[in-house]
Amino acid sequence: MASADENYVRIFDTTLRDGEQSPGATLTAAEKLEVARALSRLGVDIIEAGFPAASPDDHAAVSAIAAEVGVLPGAGPGQGKTGEPPVICALARASREDIDAAWEAIKHAAHPRIHTFLATSELHMKHKLGMTHAQVVERVRTSVLRARSLCDDVEFSPEDAGRSDPAFLYEVLDEAIRAGATTVNIPDTVGYTLPDEYGALIAGIVERVPGIDRVTVSVHCHDDLGLATANTLAGLKAGARQAEVAVNGIGERAGNCALEEVVMALHTRYWLLGLKTGIDTTQLVRLSRLVSTCTGMVVQPNKAIVGANAFSHEAGIHQDGMLKHEQTYEIMQPETVGAGKTQLVLGKHSGRHAFKLRMAELGFPLDEGELEIAFARFKRVADRKKTVVDADLSALVTTDLRQRCEYWVLEDLQVGCGTLGMPTASVRLRGPDGASRVRAAVGTGPVDAAYRAIDELVQRPSTLLEYAVHAVTEGIDALGEVSVRIRSDEEPRIWHGHGADTDIIVASVKAYLAAVNRMLTSLDARRPSHLISEARGET
Ligand code: KIV
Ligand code: ZN
Repeated sequence: MASADENYVRIFDTTLRDGEQSPGATLTAAEKLEVARALSRLGVDIIEAGFPAASPDDHAAVSAIAAEVGVLPGAGPGQGKTGEPPVICALARASREDIDAAWEAIKHAAHPRIHTFLATSELHMKHKLGMTHAQVVERVRTSVLRARSLCDDVEFSPEDAGRSDPAFLYEVLDEAIRAGATTVNIPDTVGYTLPDEYGALIAGIVERVPGIDRVTVSVHCHDDLGLATANTLAGLKAGARQAEVAVNGIGERAGNCALEEVVMALHTRYWLLGLKTGIDTTQLVRLSRLVSTCTGMVVQPNKAIVGANAFSHEAGIHQDGMLKHEQTYEIMQPETVGAGKTQLVLGKHSGRHAFKLRMAELGFPLDEGELEIAFARFKRVADRKKTVVDADLSALVTTDLRQRCEYWVLEDLQVGCGTLGMPTASVRLRGPDGASRVRAAVGTGPVDAAYRAIDELVQRPSTLLEYAVHAVTEGIDALGEVSVRIRSDEEPRIWHGHGADTDIIVASVKAYLAAVNRMLTSLDARRPSHLISEARGET
């Protein structure tokens, strides 16, 4: 399924699959849908929506994305700005059960794709799979055949290709293509290769694998040595025409190749590389923020393209140069990636209609119930803050609206702190049984005190691993956005939460409660119901 334009690079986004494998980055189904809508608006060609065989939740989220984003106009498949829905892809191990589950989840999309994989490095085949070369080749053949019997668009990945013997890789890819694969993806699963080496691997495949000209060659690079973007570009220069990427570079361990970095490298150095994508670059910063709030993975300030400092100039000599000519120290315009000046969009006199319209433009279509809550929240913020800009609106939706859950709800919070006394917090929560309960606690600071009070009310112990606060916009009246990560003492898994408010103690409590609620939702989903009632204090 090669693209008609040989210089067109398909962007395959795996934020919701490989990206979501980052520890603690678990998204709710509503958040996944939100991110998928934003990816479609951005113009990605393929959305890898998840791994349906992994859990019923993942299956349901992929189905919901296929049924909504997979049928609405987008930029797919593969030509940029076609008005067609993007391809919706689901991952499957090389087994009939996984492949069938993937198909079930994506079959309602206009352009479904099954992505199946099997490891081909000596290390993985011997120690992980316990399979011989011949068995691997045979499993690839039967898996791709099975996938093709269900779906016209099938991608095959030889996992750990970066450390596989090239001659064996050619044999496996040949088999996959003969069985009907339409895309072959070459993962540097452990981020081991160097750019020249990875480029040569792709060049070898393009040159030697029979039938390779009939399929799309794809690159998939992890960032363990900080080389994911360099390797991806080397692969594209060597002939690959699909790049697998994740927003903000999130993913297993050190992460995946960052979508924004590859897209902007191709955009900025077009005259050198001659390769293009269908991405609307002006949406990159907004999407980065959405993914950061939904996953709780804070973007470092000096992150290329989307970091808070990516377009700031501090040194006097740089500022002087910029004043004389902006290209002295700027290779991209901030507006190109959507990092231009924040626009004033709404104020306290804005009405429901304008609010609803702006939210839809930002990619947050609200139903009547959601509009009710979000508008009331917006009014409260607009009363306290002179200007409410896009970043504030996204923060409100991704925190207050999308994290709602029926466990513990914040009703009231009162803190006392300062240099004279002991920081104290009183917290009133409405519990899962509908009853309000109050606790007061003393801590090292007001946030610590509030968190202790919540722990006493919830009685499900966890450890706070990370607490980060940042201002959504500039100015003293800015919304403060807080992200936390906690680990349950019942099970060693990590959950995140975020909260936004003009009062950072309130934002901190909202973030903590969101993380606790996420934790309880997933812990209790796997417990017998009588234990859940006990834990909720209902018996
Ligand atoms: O890194 C990897 O090998 C993967 C495959 C499943 C494509 O994510
Ligand atoms: Zn990967």
